[in-house]
Formats: sequence, C-alpha cells, structure tokens
Amino acid sequence: MTRYEGRKEDPMTTTTEPDDALLEPARLGGLVLPNRMVMAPMTRNRADADGVPGSLMATYYAQRAAAGLIVAEAATPNAVGLTYPNIPAIYGPAHVAGWRNVTGAVRAAGGRMFLQIQHGGRIGHPDNSGLHPLAPSPIPLPDPIYTPSGFRPAVTPREMTLDDVHRTVADFAAAARNAVDAGFEGVEVHSANGYLLHQYLSSATNRRTDAYGGPIENRIRFTVAVTRAVADAIGPDRVGVRIAPGVTANAMCEDDVDELYPALVRALAEISPAYLHVVYADPDQDVFRAIRRLWPGTLIANPKLPDVTTGHVLHESARLVAAGADLIALGRPFLANPDLIERLRVGAPLNPIRDRHLMYTGDATGYIDYPTLETAAQPA
Ligand SMILES: Cc1cc2nc3c(=O)[nH]c(=O)nc-3n(C[C@H](O)[C@H](O)[C@H](O)COP(=O)(O)O)c2cc1C
Repeated sequence: MTRYEGRKEDPMTTTTEPDDALLEPARLGGLVLPNRMVMAPMTRNRADADGVPGSLMATYYAQRAAAGLIVAEAATPNAVGLTYPNIPAIYGPAHVAGWRNVTGAVRAAGGRMFLQIQHGGRIGHPDNSGLHPLAPSPIPLPDPIYTPSGFRPAVTPREMTLDDVHRTVADFAAAARNAVDAGFEGVEVHSANGYLLHQYLSSATNRRTDAYGGPIENRIRFTVAVTRAVADAIGPDRVGVRIAPGVTANAMCEDDVDELYPALVRALAEISPAYLHVVYADPDQDVFRAIRRLWPGTLIANPKLPDVTTGHVLHESARLVAAGADLIALGRPFLANPDLIERLRVGAPLNPIRDRHLMYTGDATGYIDYPTLETAAQPA
C-alpha cells in the first residue's frame, strides 16, 4: 500500500517515515513477534464486579491483535491487591475462565498476549476490596481514591508483616501459573507507577527496618523476590518486569533513581526474564542509558509522547530504537486505534482519545467503537 494520502491532517507525518525496524519481526523469549510495537498495559475497568473479564474485553483485545505483543491490563493476584472497581483479577477459576476467552479471541485474530500482574498496595480502599490495604509502611496515599460511591480519602495501609510479604510473593507466583493456564504467553510483573512493588523501592513509601527496607539492596528485595518466584513458577522466558524510574504517578517520589535502578536491573538480570519494560523511557536520561548498558535482554521502552500523533509516535519510537530499545510500547495510540500498526505503516493520522472519562469506565462506548481506516471509509 502507498503512503497515506490524507497526511495533511497530521503535519508531522510529512517529515517522518516509519523506521523499517519498527514494523519488522522480532524475537521475544520463545516468541516471534510480527513487529516491534507492544500494546502497553491499560486499565479500562470493564471486568465485572468480581474481576471476571467478559466478551467485551475479548472483542477489545482481539481488535488490537496486530500488535507485536499485547500486554493486557493490570490484574490483581489476590483480593487485597485490588485497586479500583471493575479491575480484572487472576486468582480464581472464574478469572482464569474469563481470561481464557480473551486470549482465545486474540489468538484466533493472530495475536499474542502477556498479562500484567499488579498489587495496589496503598492504592486500594476497603470500599473497593472489602479489605484493609497492605503496604510496606503505614503511609497513606495523599490523594483520594475512586470507589463505587465516588472519591474517598485514602486509608492508612497496614504495614505488611514478613508473613504478608511471603504470602504476597506466593500469590504472584500462583497468579502467573493461572495466567499461563488462561492462555497468556507470559506475565509482566508491575513494579511501576506507584503500586505495591514500586512502594517498596522508594524510601518515601518504604520506612521498614527489616530486610525489605532501608538501603537500596533491601528496598529492591521485594521486586526481585516476586520476579524470581514468578520465573520459578512459569519459566523466566515467560516473564517481563515493568519499572518507572523517577515517574511520579500515584504520588510516587524517588530520590535515588540513578543508584537504585542500576542495582535493581543488575539483580533482575540474574533471573534472565524475557524483558524489562521502562515507562516514560527517555534516551537523554542517564538512567535510561545505564539500564540499556546493564540489561542484557530485550528492553521495551514506552516513550513519553509530546502528543498522540503519527509523527510523534514514529519520531519518539525511532529515537528510542536508536538508543538501544528492542521493542516500543504504546498506550493511548493503541487505545484509540485498533489498526494502529496499519496506520503507522501507511502514515495515516491517528484517532484522538474521544472521551477521557470513558478510558476508565463505561461499556462498549469509547472502548470497542474506535474506527479503523477501513470502517471510517465506509459510508454511514
Ligand atoms: C487508560 C490508561 C490505563 C492505564 N493503565 C495502566 C496499567 O494498568 N498498568 C500500567 O503499567 N500502566 C498503565 N497505564 C500507563 C500506560 O501503560 C502508558 O505507560 C502511558 O499511557 C504512557 O504511554 P502512551 O503515551 O503511549 O499512552 C495506563 C494508561 C492509560 C492511558
């Protein structure tokens, strides 16, 4: 197919061609990906009240099966790890059965998926989970938390005992086994964006005085223990880890990024997971360059996009590939463009996000009704 004729709508595309490498096949663990574009995990709050994914989610993910890899949205490995209403789970037989329909639909459409496993830690609320949130230390989120009755002040989480630590590690391993049972190719351990594992990494949220708090070697211990347990459960080839050095999501704050992340990456490398996934990767930052030097395996980089346009996506992705990223993860571009790969291939403009509110709530609207180039061309 030729370059897209309507490129005037997006001035950046007149100067940017897709980097050949981006749309060419790549290996990831035991998989061959048809291209290097990864759909980043995105919570869409469409599971049922018990965390079971339904047919709407199967349709949504199958529409995006042309991605090199889909990393499905954060799913909780146990009841207390639940963050918000309608977040999917992966700890019971009904969750496995629900997800099996999703992975089946994606496989039938030619795609492949990992599942992100996320424990919220202090990002949770008794009104959501029915349980009191657990965290490394009793330090509440300073912001309110969304519940079925609207935003409520966060509660002070209970400090995890060593028993809680060991049980949570075991829950991640069991969730990973469930994910494989449900047809996922593997799982992504969520150690980013201010959730439980990230809370262990930062001295602002981790004031523990045991082996899991204090110096860097202790604060990285929980993420390393979870990753090791998950790798032991399903094989390192099926495991990825997501990190967000210095990212301030969910009131996260880190003051030793340039020391902590190299130590973490070294320790994770000993486990040989299939990939490391960096949120808001910036090739100009020392920490990104250090991670690339220290990480011998596949590195997925999620760029910080100035704007969600074809031009910015191609430009930022090419910069990251030039800086050593193996795969590029994109969130909102995949959310609003089921045929993102085709749009990037032909240089077509991207659909904008229609309604930000519908990113995190709702039904089919704003979820499975974004047009492809083909459906947009059909007469109304
Ligand atoms: C609606 C929405 C939900 C998200 N949910 C998750 C999630 O479940 N897990 C996660 O690690 N990141 C999540 N993110 C962050 C994205 O994975 C990604 O890092 C971020 O959107 C930046 O990439 P982008 O500019 O390509 O969208 C979410 C982002 C959006 C927009």
